[in-house]
Amino acid sequence: MRFFLIIIVLIITGGGMFATLQLWPLPESTAISQIQGDPKRGAYLARLSGCVSCHTSKEGPPLAGGVPLRSSFGTFYSPNITPDLENGIGRWTLAQFARAVRQGISPQGHSYYPSFPFEFYGALTDRDINDLWAALKSVPSSPIQSKEHDAGFPVTVREGLKVWRTFFAQPYTYAPDPNRSDSWNRGKYMVEGPAHCAACHTPRNFAGGMDPRAILAGDPTMLDGGKSPSITAEDLLKRGWSVETLAGALRTGVTPDGDVFGGSMAKVVREGTSYLLNEHLTDMALYLLDKDE
Ligand code: HEC
Ligand code: HEC
Repeated sequence: MRFFLIIIVLIITGGGMFATLQLWPLPESTAISQIQGDPKRGAYLARLSGCVSCHTSKEGPPLAGGVPLRSSFGTFYSPNITPDLENGIGRWTLAQFARAVRQGISPQGHSYYPSFPFEFYGALTDRDINDLWAALKSVPSSPIQSKEHDAGFPVTVREGLKVWRTFFAQPYTYAPDPNRSDSWNRGKYMVEGPAHCAACHTPRNFAGGMDPRAILAGDPTMLDGGKSPSITAEDLLKRGWSVETLAGALRTGVTPDGDVFGGSMAKVVREGTSYLLNEHLTDMALYLLDKDE
């Protein structure tokens, strides 16, 4: 009898929880103005932002997804974001794309998992989004079906992400500092925004949320099992980095003492920063070392 009572109470509270979660609001849609996108600039941004790297598997066609992202919460697979009508995002509108990337909300109104680093993409401007959209439309369609994520309860309940977002998400909005150089500000935009360096270089709490007091301070227990060092200006300077060596390492993956970046940083360089213009790598290095020029 007691057992049945417990079950009934569980069903009622469970149902109540679910209803509450359904009513729990996600952020309002922000407007996007449609402008002629530049696919070349978009492709460059897709390198800087890691879209190509994270949505292209070793064997698969570009942007067709299927890359496993292992974490203590389960394994998440990046989906197909080619223009395929059935399995890609070919039927999406620009507004739906903007909402997905900048706000992490799907066309059906569900929240995405933060394994998609949308918190950082909140910084992308309308022009950036239009350019990325133009670039994605220009890649060949792939019919590959997106893989289901492999996570256990309660992570599988997408509605729960609404609660996660309320307490842990830190959507980044870029605000330039008028007292600093243009270079420093461009570096800030790239490092804190689309290049999402903080995603791996910031310690995370039990729920996988970033510690806002320790941005870029390094993560000894990364979700993927790796370790990242602190890249705050103070620590980088202490370890002897200069603007030249830092920009050089982001271009080549080779550090001044002849070592190479290992772990996930090797991929960041190989599939991302090695494609960037020297002047943009210098902007990033200036910002990281907190220098104006
Ligand atoms: C670190 C890996 C990673 C990076 C970097 C990344 N994504 Fe994703 N992306 C994901 C994952 C994982 C999902 C699925 C999230 C989910 O199911 O909740 C996703 C989902 C998406 C979706 C939704 C697709 C759908 O079918 O609903 C779009 C669109 C998208 N990403 C575009 C981008 C763009 C554009 C960029 C670069 C600006 C980017 N992604 C960068 C991992 C990544
Ligand atoms: C996917 C996770 C990830 C991302 C994203 C990432 N890093 Fe790293 N980074 C690492 C890891 C892991 C290491 C340690 C590499 C090693 O062990 O060789 C590292 C090492 C470094 C180092 C070496 C520091 C030192 O003194 O040894 C620098 C500099 C660095 N990252 C800069 C950046 C910058 C700048 C960005 C953004 C453009 C970035 N990282 C984005 C994971 C990441």
